[in-house]
Amino acid sequence: MSLLVKEARVVTQAPGVGARRGPSMGELLVHPATDVRVEGGCIVAVGRGLPADGAEEVIEARGRVLLPGFVDCHTHACWTGDRLDEWERKRRGVPYLEILAGGGGILATVRAVRSATGEALAAELRGRLDRLLAGGTTTVEVKSGYGLSTDAELKLLRAIREASIDWPGSVVPTALLGHAKDPSIDDFVELTVRETLPAVTREFPRAAVDAYCEEGSWSTSECVRLLAAATAAGHPVRVHADQFHALGMTREAVRLGAVSVDHLEASSKDDLEFLAASRTLGVILPVTGFHTDGRFANGRALIDAGGAVALATNWNPGTAPSGSMPFAIALAVRQCGLTPAEAITASTLNAAAVLGLSDRGVIAPGARADLVLLHHRDERMLAYEVGSDPVAAVVCGGMRVK
Ligand code: NIG
Repeated sequence: MSLLVKEARVVTQAPGVGARRGPSMGELLVHPATDVRVEGGCIVAVGRGLPADGAEEVIEARGRVLLPGFVDCHTHACWTGDRLDEWERKRRGVPYLEILAGGGGILATVRAVRSATGEALAAELRGRLDRLLAGGTTTVEVKSGYGLSTDAELKLLRAIREASIDWPGSVVPTALLGHAKDPSIDDFVELTVRETLPAVTREFPRAAVDAYCEEGSWSTSECVRLLAAATAAGHPVRVHADQFHALGMTREAVRLGAVSVDHLEASSKDDLEFLAASRTLGVILPVTGFHTDGRFANGRALIDAGGAVALATNWNPGTAPSGSMPFAIALAVRQCGLTPAEAITASTLNAAAVLGLSDRGVIAPGARADLVLLHHRDERMLAYEVGSDPVAAVVCGGMRVK
């Protein structure tokens, strides 16, 4: 498939390996009235007045903003069932962790997932993936974590693989083996490290391994145990830390060489500075604060300290009921202190870096042809406008899909 996008306002980070940090997060290249030529799934040329010779499709951008496809690097999008009754209790003031302690929350979704077939989970996820694509998300990470047993975690990871098979975008699975604990099992941590992790290593050797460090969930030492074993088995590791309580996990994650520390709503300034001085990325998830309790990560402090920040939706049935990257961007600018330019970097190039993907996140020759054409002529409108669909067209792997 060959395609030409004509006369777009191309907005991108400069090509080059790795995440951007500190001031460079805000340094976008802007090329007005520029064409982008795509062949065989890759961008082959970016410039003015490129010939349309042989292009099977021409998209007339007419000065509208063209961005790299969004990369949503943190979701729990493979689930079934809903938690609407629980949400009504939360609206009346019952805290998230109290619901979890009472056997609801994540554990309610675990019960629903365990009783679903893998086929049903894959079909439900596929519906969500299609909605993400229409919103400009061309690469998405999807975590397991609602199984809490070897069989059920493998069922989720296989469903994630199955759902992605003929989806035009890219799905990156993560094994969230430490999401909660099955209260009916005495030493759940031991079982996870001894049995579930090796089973995941055999079938999904390249998947990242993740854990949720929180009161009433996995403790810091339990997370360290799991993630150290996962690292020894060759997995990249990530962690949910400092969502409600700062338990010391951010520093431990940095010491373990984690790819990312995600959440950070309750992080101290010292811990953010420690994170900023490391190679570990901070992933901020502002839809969570919007829906759950009005608390947000201090992305500004992390960037000002020289850190690398990525942005994601955290789409899940408990704390983040949205897979919209434009909404996450609008929130990151209002609530986490990012500029619109930093939020674009955080949701493209830096999010791709979290997933270990160096072939996307920029508009440059050689990059994968994942592109989002906005209705807007100024990229700041992406963060400014809220609640309407800013996406005019999506190109994914070189094919126009919207
Ligand atoms: O990152 N808090 C832990 N995990 C998810 C929520 C999952 C759920 O409540 O189902 C999060 O917010």
